[in-house]
Amino acid sequence: MKAVLSKDVGGPETLVLEDIDAPVPGAGEVLVDVAACAINFPDTLIIRDLYQFKPPRPFSPGGEISGTVTAIGEGVTGWKPGDKVLAGIGSGGLREQVVIAAERLFAVPEGIDLVQASALLMTYGTTIHALKDRGDIAAGQTVLVLGAAGGVGLSGVELAKAYGCRVVAAVSSQEKAEAARAAGADEVVIYGRPPFDKDQSKALAQQFKDAVGPEGADIVYDIVGGDYSEPALRSIAWEGRFLVVGFPAGIAKLPLNLTLLKSCDVRGVFWGAFAAREPACNAANIAELFALWRAGKIGPKISETYPLSRAHEAIAKLARGEAIGKLVVTMD
Ligand SMILES: NC(=O)c1ccc[n+]([C@@H]2O[C@H](COP(=O)([O-])OP(=O)(O)OC[C@H]3O[C@@H](n4cnc5c(N)ncnc54)[C@H](OP(=O)(O)O)[C@@H]3O)[C@@H](O)[C@H]2O)c1
Repeated sequence: MKAVLSKDVGGPETLVLEDIDAPVPGAGEVLVDVAACAINFPDTLIIRDLYQFKPPRPFSPGGEISGTVTAIGEGVTGWKPGDKVLAGIGSGGLREQVVIAAERLFAVPEGIDLVQASALLMTYGTTIHALKDRGDIAAGQTVLVLGAAGGVGLSGVELAKAYGCRVVAAVSSQEKAEAARAAGADEVVIYGRPPFDKDQSKALAQQFKDAVGPEGADIVYDIVGGDYSEPALRSIAWEGRFLVVGFPAGIAKLPLNLTLLKSCDVRGVFWGAFAAREPACNAANIAELFALWRAGKIGPKISETYPLSRAHEAIAKLARGEAIGKLVVTMD
């Protein structure tokens, strides 16, 4: 079978496409013919050894897949060849077949095609956990989403709207502003690129404050970090929740006096660890996502698909911050 492999530490240009032996499922495992593998920001980090997890080389990047069960290992119940599944696997998805622990699989809901199905878990799974479990989201609140036209960002816009909130989307370009509006954003802030000096930081804080309104943002959904975080925190509401999700623009430092002034919380979000520690809660969240999906309230926004031989291009585009919504690699 064909596999995209990271054999050396480096950027997407270091990835190679090779023929390797097909894997065999062990006890408790299932063999899946991969239909599609969605690309996420962690794929850009894991190949550079900059992610929380460092799989032994050679490994395939690709943290979430959809496909068809082709064989099951000893002791597996509940799955059979032919079942359509999706799974978050952390890495290993950019290959034609993958072995997955049976408990990580979810059945693809009726009526949803496999390419769409590959692009749900990582972004919406993170966001539903963030907004509900960490953000205490409630209808009528105001949510400020940074990096709102990326994969996680668009899921933040959509889910916050599905929960009845007013959404302010912050993005870096007019094209991204349109994508955020199309996903339901009520208001859009277009920001520049850092580094920001003190005046630029203050000006961006004012842009955020004007957009969220006098009461401030009940939730700041920060998937960007860097110089964007402090101005966003300055626009938070009394007792607001600032959700720390990712750092494509760098790891931010926040002045703690701001949390005192707003009596607000800065809360970390680590969906992968949550899913491993609290699988039942995560499964309930995913079931809720499927219901919202079937109701037409959410759905992955796939802007481009790539063949396996060009998977490195998809990872490079995401790393440059140029992807809108989701980029998906298909195996056909
Ligand atoms: N905590 C968790 O459990 C968890 C789970 C999943 C993902 N994440 C994190 O969430 C973040 C977003 O992931 P994603 O898959 O949605 O990525 P994405 O689609 O590439 O979106 C990231 C966004 O970050 C913004 N950005 C700002 N500065 C950037 C820079 N220097 N380079 C690249 N992008 C930059 C871009 O929006 P603008 O151009 O509009 O600024 C871009 O759309 C990542 O940091 C990822 O690791 C965290």
